[in-house]
Amino acid sequence: MIADRINRMEVSKTMMISAEAKKLKAAGADVINLGMGELDFNTPHNIKEAGKLAIDENKTRYTMNVGTVELRTAIASKLKRDNHLEYPLKNIIVTNGAKQAVFNAIMTLVNPGEEVIFSSPYWVSYPAMVSMAQGKSVVIETNIENGFKFTAKQLEDIATPKSKALIFCNPSNPTGSGYNKDELAELAEVIEKKNLYVISDDIYEKLVFDDYKFYNLATVKPSVKDRIVVVNGVSKAYSMTGWRIGYAAANDDIINGMNKIQSHTTSHASAISQEAAIEALSGPQFMIEEMLVELKARRDYLYNELTSIDGIKCYKPQGAFYLFPDISSLLNRQIGDVKFETSMDLAMYLLQEVHVAVVPGSAFGSEGHIRISYSTSMENLKEVMYRLKKAFAKLS
Ligand SMILES: Cc1ncc(COP(=O)(O)O)c(C=O)c1O
Repeated sequence: MIADRINRMEVSKTMMISAEAKKLKAAGADVINLGMGELDFNTPHNIKEAGKLAIDENKTRYTMNVGTVELRTAIASKLKRDNHLEYPLKNIIVTNGAKQAVFNAIMTLVNPGEEVIFSSPYWVSYPAMVSMAQGKSVVIETNIENGFKFTAKQLEDIATPKSKALIFCNPSNPTGSGYNKDELAELAEVIEKKNLYVISDDIYEKLVFDDYKFYNLATVKPSVKDRIVVVNGVSKAYSMTGWRIGYAAANDDIINGMNKIQSHTTSHASAISQEAAIEALSGPQFMIEEMLVELKARRDYLYNELTSIDGIKCYKPQGAFYLFPDISSLLNRQIGDVKFETSMDLAMYLLQEVHVAVVPGSAFGSEGHIRISYSTSMENLKEVMYRLKKAFAKLS
């Protein structure tokens, strides 16, 4: 009965963990959930007010399918201000979250059988989306030693005449690693040479630490701009995950294609959320700085604690709000007769034993790791480390 495209899709491992976490919580357990892909901060006050005003002013009807002129103007200004990229409004589309922008871009670009390249560990939705488009996922593996980044040479070696696009997530979910300007310039050379389109998932652009500086590939090498679909949104930078506003900027054909898909499926993004997003992009930006101070303190605390545990290796990320420690030395250990062989086994054990929910690395195509989101208070993180150490110590 069910179509092949659905049967091809894996059941989400994150869903399995969160279902179990919910069950435990309902039974009264004090579960700390570090599996979340969203920040724990509230949407800033001025942005919420803009949303309320939109309702009061009856901005509650259909908008243009591609998004309002006002929001696309704000997006164009943002891209110019932050990324030195100039796009006319016709080359910008507003979507229901960045997720829809990635999906619509894949559906617009990829024919059945064409290859889409991305690196592992990857964001869980990329392979599922490529599969829905009947494309073929081609994965470049990265690891802690190379900072979870692939090189221009690796891209050149893996690209074939069937390769249509690269999905490039920078900074990355789940590793938080970020590419520097030189690395981007080298990748851009290969992208041009191999005739690839790039879906550039920039959703974590603003959540970066230390002296890391974010660049889009098109900023570094303007000659590839026509090949790039810039994907971004307000979900992460402004704690607006529930408002569902993302956007894409690209050449005419790509934006027209994405618009066609959107016009026959979801139509435009929420009119009210679009008004709030104008305030997010054009209003004061200092809240991001405040958020980053807190996030950096959490990252440093968790990184120092995790790496002080014997056998755990961890990459110190440049961005996002995740750590992706290598826990392979804790696998194949046991308690009594129960052996924990995979990252999923370990994640389930941590949930059941000490009520800490994390995501197994296998969900991101990278066994031997877990993803820990530090989107929770420092107080909770201290409690988490106490519990994790207790759980790890029991494994022999
Ligand atoms: C890498 C990456 N891209 C896109 C998204 C989707 O963002 P949005 O909530 O705006 O759809 C996420 C959300 O977790 C993400 O991690």
